[in-house]
This record gives sequence, structure tokens and C-alpha cells, in this order.
Amino acid sequence: MANLTARKNLTELINSANASHEGGLKRSLGAINLIMLGVGAIIGAGIFVLTGEVASQYAGPAITISFVIAAFACACAGLCYAELASMIPVAGSVYTYSYATVGEFFAWIIGWDLIIEYLFAASTVSVGWSGYIVSFLKNLGIVIPPALTSAPFAYDDALGFHTTGALINFPAMAIIAIVTVILVIGVQESARFNNIIVAIKTTVILMFLIAGVSYVNPGNWVPFIPENTGEFGHFGWTGVFRGAAVIFFAYIGFDAVSTAAQEAKNPQRDLPIGILGSLVICTILYIAVGLVLTGLVPYPKLAVPDPIAVGIDATGLTWLSPIIKLGAIAGLSSVILVMLLGQPRIFFSMANDGLLPPAFSKVHPKFKTPYISTIITGGVAMALAAVFPIGILSKLVSLGTLLAFAMVCLAVIILRRTHTTMERPFRTPLSPYIPIAGIIACFGCMGFVNIFAWELLGVWMVIGIAVYFLYGAGHSKVQQQLKK
Ligand code: ALA
Repeated sequence: MANLTARKNLTELINSANASHEGGLKRSLGAINLIMLGVGAIIGAGIFVLTGEVASQYAGPAITISFVIAAFACACAGLCYAELASMIPVAGSVYTYSYATVGEFFAWIIGWDLIIEYLFAASTVSVGWSGYIVSFLKNLGIVIPPALTSAPFAYDDALGFHTTGALINFPAMAIIAIVTVILVIGVQESARFNNIIVAIKTTVILMFLIAGVSYVNPGNWVPFIPENTGEFGHFGWTGVFRGAAVIFFAYIGFDAVSTAAQEAKNPQRDLPIGILGSLVICTILYIAVGLVLTGLVPYPKLAVPDPIAVGIDATGLTWLSPIIKLGAIAGLSSVILVMLLGQPRIFFSMANDGLLPPAFSKVHPKFKTPYISTIITGGVAMALAAVFPIGILSKLVSLGTLLAFAMVCLAVIILRRTHTTMERPFRTPLSPYIPIAGIIACFGCMGFVNIFAWELLGVWMVIGIAVYFLYGAGHSKVQQQLKK
């Protein structure tokens, strides 16, 4: 019988992280770089693409309230992440922390759920990337046939799951293929490169805000919360909450800061600053974008793949539109890169622990990258991006990540009881209230995601549990050691 609460030895984990340091990763990242890392992972398809769907179908101008609600859930989870990351500053993620503290099965469930956050999010963002590149090429007079740039399947509440007549989303596949090749050959996670992309992304958003604000027509904000259509989640307060659950996607990524624990100069102090600082910056930018965008364009007209560009077109400043699109294309590429970089590392840790086959932790002899897990991740992400639209993918990612965040909040509550004496350089304030509020906010948002995404999440979790019992439980190194 599998020991579901088998744990890794925490002291050994921290020591081996420190040992791998000598001659290994350099502690070169300060607080500012960590904030930039967070912003680099956060700003992407959420703000550049999903704002259109949320404003036009669920919340109207009240998308700004949706942004605030989602930010609240993230802030609670962010504080809990900060506590865990400062307590156990090893590279890896919440999968590793929970393995050492709560136990193997909980860790496996979180790790399996994180696949949704990273791998599926890479597919989601690549579909957003495709929308912007198609629109940019069109400006240049290059038209790719729509059958090759959109998904053959779609879902909506009225029609259910249906075909669209399109064949494949080719540009989305292409960007994943390119990024995967770069990652196999080996990209040094370069803070400087990230800083440049972050500068481009934030400049583009600031340009949009500065150029757009004087063209806002306050009449477009009336009514601020459009009346519910009679259908759950379509405008009215249920729409605002469904909007929050969907736009939550825009905040995903701040937890990537914790993966740089071993490269941080002063992780105990700076990880919380990086996580919370990047969240605060993005929250402010997002609320401002929500207001300006819905002030520029009547919300029903925002059902487009490139809403920010449509917002700029409404100002008549057409010269700005291609610049915004190029900025979005660069910004979205970097999010895909971060996501596809993070996923193989989680597979790598799982395989090292024996929970996945050893092939997942194989390192390329020349490139020194986890090439098999990188190629598998890229291949699956490509397949998903080829056939599913952003609407389906993004909701599944939001749902899966909300679940992971709720588990992170739960882990803080559990650890305050089980590991009372462990040093916590950063403590979540008002515990257990903040973690409990985080759990309620995350589950609350999850309640507003459509049923189809829940079904997909359920199938995914059942597969995960099956993999654990059929493979992981029997091959777990921690369990084998315990038996000795
Ligand atoms: N937050 C990231 C994005 O919006 C995942 O693309």
C-alpha cells in the first residue's frame, strides 16, 4: 500500500540545494530583478487578449471590478507563496515544498495541477500570439487563410462543444516549436533579456494608456455593470464574478519568482518583494487598462483576438497600432518561453523523485538541458494549441491554477501546525485568516467557471491520480527509502 504522506527530508533538501550551489547557480538576482521576472511572466495573453472576451461577454466595463476580485485572490495566494518560498528557498516550486512538508500524494496532486498552469498556459498564450501575428501581418498586406489560423473546435454555453470549419492554428504551433528548439539548445535564463522584454511590454501598455485616456468616452461606461441577460455569468454580478475567474489568467505567473530562489541574492527578503511587488504593479496596470479600453470602445465590440489594438484604432492613432501589436507579440513570446521553461523543471523533479519515468529527467549530453521533457512538453503544448481555442484553454488554466493556489494557502495553514518551530523569514500576515480568505476567494472564483472547464479539469485529475497509483506510488524513491 502506498504511503500517501511520505515526505522528503527537509534539511537534506535545503542542504543539497546549497551544495549544488557551489559551482552551480549564481546568486545574482536582487529585489528589482525578481520583480521584473514576475512582471515578465505575468503580462501576456490575459491583458492583451482575454480582456476582449471578458468585457464583451461577461462583465462589460465592470471588467475593472473583475480585475480587483482576481487580484484579491492572487494577493492572498501570493502572501502564502511568499511564506513558503522564504521558508524553503530551494529552486523548484510548490511541488517540492509540499513534498517535504505535507507529503507525497498532496505534492503529486499539486504537481499534476501545475502542468495545467504551465503547459496549458503556454498553449493558451500561443493562441493569443497567433491572433496578434495574424493581425500584424494583415497590416502588412499578408493574409494567411483563416482556416489555418484558428481552432477546429470551439465551445459556447449555447452550442456546447462544436466544430468551426477551420483546420488548425498553424501560427500558434509554430511559435511553440520555435521556443521549444531554443529551450532544447539551451537558453540561459538571462535576467537582462527578460528586463528588455518587460520594458517593451510595460512601455506598450503605458503608451496605450497615455494615448487612449484623452479619447475615452465616459458614455461607454454606462451602464457600468450591464444587466444580466437572464443567463448565469452573462453580465450582472454573476458576469462580474465569471469575468474575475477568467481574467484571473492575467495574473498567473507571479509564482514563477519562487522558482528563482537559488539565484536570488537574499531570497528570504527578496522573494516576497518580488512576488508581491510584481502583483501590485500588474494590478494597477490592469485596472487602468480595463477602464481605458472599455472607455474607448463600446464593450460589445471587444469580441476580437486583439482588443488592445482595436482600442488604439478607436483613437484614430493608426500609426500606433502596429507598434502595440509588435510589443504584444514580443511580450507574449516571453511568457511562452517562461512557461515552457518551467514545466520541464517540474517534470524533471518528479522524475528525479521516481514519480515519473527516468526519461523525464534525462539531460542532453551536449546542451545540458532536460531535452526529453522539454520536447514532450513542447509537443503536447503544440497539439493543444493547434486544435483548441483560447476560450477553452484559458478557462481550464484559470480553473487549474485557482485550485493550485487554494492548495498553497492550505499548505500554509497545515505547516503552521505541523512545523511550528521552523524559521519563517516572511510570515503571511493575519494567518490563518488570509490563507482562509485565499481559499474562499479561489474556490469562489472557481464556482463561476463554466461546467465544460470543470469536466476537463475532472478528467485531468482522474488521469493524474491513475498515473500516481499505476506508476508513481510503486517507483517513488522516498517510499523505497522508507521501506529500507
Ligand atoms: N498571466 C499570463 C498571461 O496573461 C499567463 O499571459
